[in-house]
Amino acid sequence: MEVSSGFGLLLLGCCCALLIMLPSGVSAKRWTVGGNKGWTSNVNYTIWAQDIKFYKGDWLFFVYDRNQNNVLQVNKTDYESCNSENPIHSWTTGAGRDVVPLNVTKHYYFISGKGFCYGGMKLAVHVLNPPPPPRASPVKGANAAPSAHSGGQLFVRSAMAFVAVWTFAFQ
Ligand SMILES: *[C@@H]1O[C@H](CO)[C@@H](O)[C@H](O)[C@H]1NC(C)=O
Ligand SMILES: *[C@@H]1O[C@H](CO)[C@@H](O)[C@H](O)[C@H]1NC(C)=O
Ligand SMILES: *[C@@H]1O[C@H](CO)[C@@H](O)[C@H](O)[C@H]1NC(C)=O
Repeated sequence: MEVSSGFGLLLLGCCCALLIMLPSGVSAKRWTVGGNKGWTSNVNYTIWAQDIKFYKGDWLFFVYDRNQNNVLQVNKTDYESCNSENPIHSWTTGAGRDVVPLNVTKHYYFISGKGFCYGGMKLAVHVLNPPPPPRASPVKGANAAPSAHSGGQLFVRSAMAFVAVWTFAFQ
């Protein structure tokens, strides 16, 4: 029964992969600035950002026309006045696809340095500490933390049980 035990191993592998991948559901997010409109004029980024919780470790992804725009990180004063003369950092790489790691808990300010800032093309985000992780870490495996029956753990346990039965039955 080489074929079926091989398949069983494959399933087991999938379960292990699942165990490793589960925690990523609660970790860093990449936010595409402006959603499907991207980084452009005539989007109100205050409105776009107001319902989002930005956490340390997240990324901003600026997608835009590289001939029209850029991405400058500035301080609050320069954000308010649209001054692009003294950016803290230019995130512009030239491809119109720039990723900004939000790795510090603070207020970040971005403007387009090519005039569109005056029309409202500016973004302020407040980066917070991430919420505490769920109490039982699924990485510890099916035997850990019997008190925590989160949906994910339950699912993994069922999957592992299924694989165990399956491989046993077909060997
Ligand atoms: C921001 O930088 C400008 C210089 O570009 C400076 O005049 C201003 O005081 C700074 N504002 C803050 C809040 O640091
Ligand atoms: C945050 O990321 C920037 C850019 O990659 C880097 O220069 C800076 O050192 C980082 N800061 C921390 C606290 O990790
Ligand atoms: C964006 O919306 C906010 C909140 O409604 C408003 O205060 C602000 O003036 C708007 N900005 C622009 C550039 O229209």
